[in-house]
Amino acid sequence: MSQALAISGTPGVGKTSTGILLAKRLDVDVLELSRLVEREKLYSRRDEVRATLVADMEALERYLAELFSQTKRTHLVLGHFADIIPDKFLKCLVVLRCHPKILTERLKERQWTHAKILENVQAEILGECTSQALLRHPSEKIFEINVSQHTEEEVADFIEKVFSGQSTEFVPGRISWLQTLNGQVLHRIMEEGRLP
Ligand SMILES: Nc1ncnc2c1ncn2[C@@H]1O[C@H](COP(=O)(O)OP(=O)(O)OP(=O)(O)O)[C@@H](O)[C@H]1O
Ligand SMILES: [Mg+2]
Repeated sequence: MSQALAISGTPGVGKTSTGILLAKRLDVDVLELSRLVEREKLYSRRDEVRATLVADMEALERYLAELFSQTKRTHLVLGHFADIIPDKFLKCLVVLRCHPKILTERLKERQWTHAKILENVQAEILGECTSQALLRHPSEKIFEINVSQHTEEEVADFIEKVFSGQSTEFVPGRISWLQTLNGQVLHRIMEEGRLP
């Protein structure tokens, strides 16, 4: 049976870039969930509006359970729905959190639609990836890292520390963007659908 280490977080927070850095240091197989879903056709439909595939979560969960039962290799799972990993295989899941203003800048560079950027920035403000992870797994396995002021290398260092069990400073629930955005900006993003 294999064990999974996971990096979750809103699109654009840096899962892939830091995950690739980390994979060079650890002896792990990298599993990028969005690619896996596409390659193994683990989706229910194509969302034309969002230009994305809608993952079939039950099929993905089954696929991962089978894969992890069959091998002893440790997997590094990357994806904003990485919480889908069946709990018995999950050793540790780190949610990367990025300040909404920085995240907006990064997502604007992707040429996504306004609606798709907004949806993701709102999800980051609400801490959706952390909430999902805490619904599915014991809180002792979940960690959060604020990546806003750090380089990719520094973030990889933090994640490595968490994965090796050496860090208690990244317990979930400490990061909130509400205090860092003024009320007017928050209202514009959440109520009027305007980006910062
Ligand atoms: N700590 C960082 N500092 C500066 N730029 C960063 C940092 N982390 C990531 N980036 C940049 O932000 C962009 C998004 O990063 P990345 O593609 O790794 O995000 P992701 O979380 O994997 O997104 P997705 O869920 O869409 O796959 C990339 O251009 C990346 O180089
Ligand atoms: Mg990625």
